[in-house]
Amino acid sequence: MRLLLLASLLSLLSTVLAAAEKKDAGAAKQRVVEVFGWSQFDFNYPSEEQRQEALKNGSFVPSAAVPTGIHAAGNRVFVSLPRWKSGVPATLAYAEYPDAKGERSPRLNPYPSWELSREGNCDGLTSVFRVFIDECNRLWAIDTGWSSSWLVPNRICPVKVMAIDLKTDKVVLQYVLPKHVLKSDALPANIQVEFPKGGCKNPKQAFLYIADTVAYSIIVADMSTGDAWRVTDKTVYPNPEWTTFHVGGQTFDLTDGVMGMALGPRMANGDRELYFSAMGGDMQHWVKTSILRDKKKAKNSPNAFKTGLKSRQSQTAGYAMDKNGVMIFGLLNSDALVCWNSKSPFEPRNFGYLAQDKTAMQFLVSVVIDNIKRVWALSARIQQFVLDTIDPNDVNFRVFMSPSVKQAIEGTVCDAHGK
Ligand SMILES: *[C@@H]1O[C@H](CO)[C@@H](O)[C@H](O)[C@H]1NC(C)=O
Repeated sequence: MRLLLLASLLSLLSTVLAAAEKKDAGAAKQRVVEVFGWSQFDFNYPSEEQRQEALKNGSFVPSAAVPTGIHAAGNRVFVSLPRWKSGVPATLAYAEYPDAKGERSPRLNPYPSWELSREGNCDGLTSVFRVFIDECNRLWAIDTGWSSSWLVPNRICPVKVMAIDLKTDKVVLQYVLPKHVLKSDALPANIQVEFPKGGCKNPKQAFLYIADTVAYSIIVADMSTGDAWRVTDKTVYPNPEWTTFHVGGQTFDLTDGVMGMALGPRMANGDRELYFSAMGGDMQHWVKTSILRDKKKAKNSPNAFKTGLKSRQSQTAGYAMDKNGVMIFGLLNSDALVCWNSKSPFEPRNFGYLAQDKTAMQFLVSVVIDNIKRVWALSARIQQFVLDTIDPNDVNFRVFMSPSVKQAIEGTVCDAHGK
């Protein structure tokens, strides 16, 4: 009897040990790893004298730059740095990954050049929140044209879109948004680019979907005609019950509308869904791009704008979707990176947790999947910037990476082969 008990105890112990071992093996192959962390950003100037000069004359104020967007192509990781306060040397910049010296906080390089980053040069970029990279390796930046917009908003350049060929780093398209789609408080913060006819070779065949976060609309622009129109369905507005944010132990209000956006996979008939949601909101929405591209239908098809089954129970600032319809996004009030497979109803029990960290993942502001299926996520302590409590000695901005969507979601509810 005793022996039997001992034997079963031993077998229990070995199962526990095996389980622990399995868990360790899982930890060794992390879903996402932190690749960069910065307290503040520094920049590679053409010379140290020029850097010192910029520090002296106020064109570079190290505490001014806060990142709101990320993307990557090849060995470059791009961050966008809106000109909220004066002293942001470049609104779009990149670090190399992996960094040649293995630095955790590499200096940034302006993109596409110092000249096109100079504040006041309206041929260049003034203030960028997010960028998009298309399948032909072109980077599309949406530029609000605001300078010092946090304090005394001052639109110094027109609202425009700039497309840059990442192979040549040359500007291949500039598109100034027509005045009739822009309200005076327009804040075009996010952009998705689609080539509905197929091949992406000709940038003039692109359709742009631009999130106007403050003036509450999705702006659709047809590059073949230069025409643009505003879509203002009820789903682009914030929900007052979700405009108070709780992040990193701090509470603040943001009445932002549509911010997160991601294009779904191409369907058999060539159509795609555009997934979108208000920053101050808890629901996920989507609409077929064929509706958005049809000026009349876009204004008059309330039933075409869909809403997910249940509340996310959190705000989210950004997400991406892969070709299999798996969305990866941040949950602001649980400091977590999660996934959802769009073949299942949108509700928290169908979310897979990829990573969660109360310190490192405060305010996941932007998530993207690049052209080689790497997943990138950016956390930035926007809440401390809003409340003016950023600690320059702490790590405030971090970049996380997963080598593939597959590795990120393996075995979660989002994985078709998982359980
Ligand atoms: C400040 O110094 C930088 C670096 O030399 C220079 O590029 C910039 O034009 C200067 N800005 C002003 C306002 O003088």
